Amino acid sequence: MSNDYLEGNYAPVRQEHTITELAVTGTIPAHLDGRYLRIGPNPIAEVDPETYHWFTGDGMVHGVRLRDGRAQWYRNRWVRTPAVAHALGEVARRRAPIRTGFEMTGANTNVLSHAGRTLALVEGGITNYELTEDLDTVGPCDFGGTLRGGYTAHPHRDPNTGELHAVSYSFGRGNRVQYSVIGVDGRARHTVDVTVTGSPMMHDFSLTEKHVVFYDLPVTFDPRQAAAISVPPGMRALSRLVLAALVGRVRWPEPFMAIATKGMRGNGNLPYRWNPRYPARVGVMPRAGGAGDVRWFDVEPCYVFHPLNAYDEGNAIVLDVVRHPKACDRGLHGPNEGPTTLDRWLVDLADGKLRETRLDDHPQEYPRIDDRLIGRPHRYGYAVQTFGGHAGDSVLKHDLRRGQTSTRRLGAHHRVGEFTFVPHAPQGPEDDGVLMGFVYDESTDRSDLTILDAASLETIAAIHLPDRVPYGFHGNWAPTAS
Ligand SMILES: [Fe+2]
Repeated sequence: MSNDYLEGNYAPVRQEHTITELAVTGTIPAHLDGRYLRIGPNPIAEVDPETYHWFTGDGMVHGVRLRDGRAQWYRNRWVRTPAVAHALGEVARRRAPIRTGFEMTGANTNVLSHAGRTLALVEGGITNYELTEDLDTVGPCDFGGTLRGGYTAHPHRDPNTGELHAVSYSFGRGNRVQYSVIGVDGRARHTVDVTVTGSPMMHDFSLTEKHVVFYDLPVTFDPRQAAAISVPPGMRALSRLVLAALVGRVRWPEPFMAIATKGMRGNGNLPYRWNPRYPARVGVMPRAGGAGDVRWFDVEPCYVFHPLNAYDEGNAIVLDVVRHPKACDRGLHGPNEGPTTLDRWLVDLADGKLRETRLDDHPQEYPRIDDRLIGRPHRYGYAVQTFGGHAGDSVLKHDLRRGQTSTRRLGAHHRVGEFTFVPHAPQGPEDDGVLMGFVYDESTDRSDLTILDAASLETIAAIHLPDRVPYGFHGNWAPTAS
């Protein structure tokens, strides 16, 4: 059986590189001093194409160090889970303590720096990892023991405080998801457990200056899929019954969680499925509020992996989101359930209604803004165009004030991943900066780190890598600490 998510540039690379001589076309802006980091799945061993889901592959991080107008290095490294270390023939890493989460797969979804540490992040209660500046694995990350049971791949940094706000989910949390705030010291200073209808996959959330927004949408933990990846065939019927009775109802004690997840392996099924019986809702909680302060708003069933941004506007909240008509229904290998759109959801706190409008109907994903405007009104949004759910050849720029979208094609044989905005100067205006991301060239089977001028979308520089960077998930600019 073929699996699109193991073919072409989805196929894993087999080699870790450390390259210090990199060819560059164009001019790297001299003020860029830091690392562009990006992570994605890269299974280390052979996987079964029939069951492999793209979200479950072993994590590999890619990084390019820029300084003084030069590209100093490119590195790619697998995140060393015990299974990956074993496969590489390295000294076996001990299993992480269950308080850090469980090790179904390696952290593969987002990579960022916070409080002087480089963090490889994943969701769903799976263990996160800390990396060195050179992308080697330090070990599991639980924020100095202050956060138990895993985190999320999509924290949002409050531009005023520098703190990381997040919403985490896990089937072990019962019918709760957890809002958390990680301080600038790298430790959790505030958590709120919020009750939802069951055990949803809550990939991302939104933050405004006043509110936390929960996307409680109908993709939920699936006992059948979970049993298939965690227990031998003869035990699966019993396991399914036990899981179905417990998941989404009760919080699992850590010792029970340790036993239940011991057999879970990555590089296989995703234990979440589209659930038409699950109510689609958006939850709004004041930042300083508690679980009892959450208000819920019905929304048409759909799935949102990624909001672009959100902000308060009078007695309403504006949510700009990339809407998928469905997720994890028929597409069991990756997110591919019909064309996505950029939509605006206006949550009216006065009349209790949520109104949906369409901003742009290009199929798209990986929406980003100038992160200095997280939770504040934004004019511009950046995204990448997709074709049939897969990587396209264009970067999109939305001018939401004018209602216009510009398209920059990178070329017929080129495929783009997420592009991240980096400002020219900390106090400069919105959109005054660059966009950077990996671009794969099918004709050479290699990738570039491409730097675009955010205002014009013209290419400023391309850093040519010696290998390809497989299609992956999220990246961020990690500036050198001053
Ligand atoms: Fe994501």
